[in-house]
Amino acid sequence: MSVPLPVSLPSAPAEFVVLNSRRSTLVLEAHADEAPLWRYWGPRLPDGARPDAPLRDTRPLPSFMLDFDQPLTLVPTFGVGWFGQSALLAHRDGLSFAQAITACEVEWITPQRAVRLRLTDAVAQLRLDVTLALDDASDVLVASTTLTNLGDGVLDVQWLAALTLPLPGRCDTVRSYAGQHVHEFLLQTDPLSRSVWRRENRRGRTSHDCFPGAVVTTPGATDDAGLVYGAHLAWSGNHQQSIEWLHDGQYQWQLGEWLAPGEGRLAPGATLHTPELVATLSNAGYNGLAANFHTELRSRLNWPGGTMKPRPVHLNTWEGFYFDVHPGPVKELATAAAAVGIERFVLDDGWFHQRHHDRAALGDWWPDESKFPNGLGDLVAHVNGLGMEFGLWFEPEMVNPDSELFRSHPDWALQIDGRPLITGRNQLVLDISRPEASDYLFGKLDALLTELPIRYIKWDHNRDLTTAGLADGRAGYRAQVHAAYALFARLRAAHPEVEIESCSGGGGRIDFAVLRHTHRVWTSDCIDALSRVDIQRGYLQFFPPEVMGAHVGTAPAHTTGRTQGMAFRAAVALPGHLGVELDVRHLNQADRNELAGWIALYKQLRERLHHGRVWQGQTADGVVWQLHGDEAATDLTLLAYRIKPSTHRYTPAVRLPMLLADARYLVQELQPAGAHGAAHHTSAPLFEQLRGAGVEMAGAWLAEAGLPLPRALAETACIVQLRRL
Ligand code: GLA
Repeated sequence: MSVPLPVSLPSAPAEFVVLNSRRSTLVLEAHADEAPLWRYWGPRLPDGARPDAPLRDTRPLPSFMLDFDQPLTLVPTFGVGWFGQSALLAHRDGLSFAQAITACEVEWITPQRAVRLRLTDAVAQLRLDVTLALDDASDVLVASTTLTNLGDGVLDVQWLAALTLPLPGRCDTVRSYAGQHVHEFLLQTDPLSRSVWRRENRRGRTSHDCFPGAVVTTPGATDDAGLVYGAHLAWSGNHQQSIEWLHDGQYQWQLGEWLAPGEGRLAPGATLHTPELVATLSNAGYNGLAANFHTELRSRLNWPGGTMKPRPVHLNTWEGFYFDVHPGPVKELATAAAAVGIERFVLDDGWFHQRHHDRAALGDWWPDESKFPNGLGDLVAHVNGLGMEFGLWFEPEMVNPDSELFRSHPDWALQIDGRPLITGRNQLVLDISRPEASDYLFGKLDALLTELPIRYIKWDHNRDLTTAGLADGRAGYRAQVHAAYALFARLRAAHPEVEIESCSGGGGRIDFAVLRHTHRVWTSDCIDALSRVDIQRGYLQFFPPEVMGAHVGTAPAHTTGRTQGMAFRAAVALPGHLGVELDVRHLNQADRNELAGWIALYKQLRERLHHGRVWQGQTADGVVWQLHGDEAATDLTLLAYRIKPSTHRYTPAVRLPMLLADARYLVQELQPAGAHGAAHHTSAPLFEQLRGAGVEMAGAWLAEAGLPLPRALAETACIVQLRRL
């Protein structure tokens, strides 16, 4: 062994790697013999703007530091002078525990937009290929890292960040999302400090509890102004993220897959690909950030036929019937649904072999002989005959111990030898990375989709993973996610006309990766409109409204016991992908007429609501609102929800800063045909005009002074259209 020499400063001159998009710039300082140094990720710099000097020339060394200054790099690594969180933790049977990049090659994929950094550690014998692509239109950075084991022994990887991002030291707050079943996207706001901020999820699915992403804000940032940063890990399994203060005053933000012990074991030559990181920043507050994420997500959606058709109104049978689905009543409901304007009829749980409750039958994916002795064909024909598409519920990745599938193949459930099986909602998780298990599932779904014109699948996943051991005894969390993506892809390839909804006890699997294969998410099992206002607001920070499953439920709401009027329930569901989840047959005539009116209004508005921007905001007095419209702000729909009784004698106006100051707008309140019940306490002449032919108003006035709102009872909505004249 040769005696090592002290490390010296990089000899090669710095190369600045600059990626630009419309409103953001990323700058790395690359040297041939180390990992690129982070120089900048922030608002757009002018073309040609570069650092004036290499970073180390600008940083006098503090006392008692290493003589070799190590700033934040694209892949900070443990053990060779970096003391912060490492982007990689790995070893070879206890050796090669420390890594440091010894060679860096810059490979441009698209000049100024996309680059691959090939980073080799000749000592630890591994390579990290980091790909960065910055989209011009959306300002979204999509990044991932691939680790290759170049050694001739096994490399055990404990952690590999999809990317390490720099955040400026003036960031002070992180907004992330906690939650649970029936309350997803619960906003959690934490101050940033010198303590590490970390969120982890080990539930084996995206989870209700810990959304894989966050928004980091600078002081004074609001819905519409101020510098904010956002990142999301496109992954439907375990994940972790951390934000750590660094001694140069900035923060580093890492996101990646949380690997269970052994999941990162790489044979010689093997690779580990991280999920994609989707990150963006905006000088226009949370709404600016949301617009960037929405654009990126829209570019991922893989619609049958290539483009999104207007989102059809759903009827879902779950809360109307639960497991009690019998052809007679189901057909009656379909007839009643068609009469109020439903366009897609989705038969939820309860239809398959012996499925009469949640204790049995998952895995036995053929029609229950007692309920549907002649199969589903008759029902599907009835639904189609009413002009509606037919959709069907499955939960492919699950099995009940009380099922024919489990009795035949108990070994197909994820399990750990010697440990008891742990059920959740009475069910186990199938190891679908076994080809025979995924072939079985594909065969069952494919048979039904081939036999019948089923155009929609609600694909559920109703429990967390535990004892997730594969056939060889190794941890199978990661394998399970990849196998699920493969099964989605196989089914879509065989049936490209079918749309899929990602459901997981409501919103337990909502992420940018599952939405490469699916077209709608079931946002929450909670359909209480008041709860939904919060849930949908969190959701809309990352995801666009057209894939947000939003239903008009019954009153009182099944999951909260609270009662809201039809108008509020419908107005809250209206901007999403609208559905109805109640037994329409039992509505009184007035409610039925009103529901039909709301559905008609949705059909009139959906193209406006489902393309373009969404801005969200709130007033000081219990009103939260969202505005959907085109980027140029010429055609907009405002949905203002009064979620609490007013504490002001006079209702504050809603400022709409996105309106064009020099334009005039025709402002009109929209009401569905058949609306009944008094939403307003007292009126005033302006509101009579708004409800009539509309009122012409100045953009500048609405932007700064605001649009007056009627005085309204709690749990009511006001919908206003603004059209540029
Ligand atoms: C989950 C879903 C519900 C419904 C049931 C059926 O809870 O979120 O919408 O489909 O499963 O069992």
